[in-house]
Amino acid sequence: MCEYCGCQQIASIGELTREHDAVVAEVAEVRAFLRDHDVEGAAKTSRRIAEILGPHTEVEEGGLFPLMSEEFPDHIEALEREHRVIEAVLAEAAEGIPADPTWPTRLLAVLDTLRDHILKEQDGVFPASLSVIDTQGWEQVEAARARAGTAIHDHPHDQHDHPHDPEHEEHA
Ligand SMILES: [Fe+2]
Repeated sequence: MCEYCGCQQIASIGELTREHDAVVAEVAEVRAFLRDHDVEGAAKTSRRIAEILGPHTEVEEGGLFPLMSEEFPDHIEALEREHRVIEAVLAEAAEGIPADPTWPTRLLAVLDTLRDHILKEQDGVFPASLSVIDTQGWEQVEAARARAGTAIHDHPHDQHDHPHDPEHEEHA
């Protein structure tokens, strides 16, 4: 598992993992909306997932993956294929509630794909990146991040003063 291999200490991997965590939380929301037959809520949350995944995928495909595809060509190709499949179903909600009545069912299926995909990255590609990517490579990944930006505005605790200080949460 990733927590034990040290890859989280690489800032770029830490950022990608935080985005995964945010996506996983939104996926739980979508599932809850769909259980309540709230397609509008599911569509809105799908747009948020797509927003997080936009820069995330750019960093992976424009930074991390090119540095690993020589060593793991099949894995990387499969992950990129899954990116396209996941994006396509999320994009159907880009303009509002998709008219296609099969969308909620297809969305649920693709969210399963997304969950497995995230696990594959965190248990496979991210730990493996440590032995494949050198300092110069990490600079390339950081450059890809600088180009892509991020849709996550939740910084580590020591970089902002609110709202995650323990006192605040205790009294919340
Ligand atoms: Fe990812």
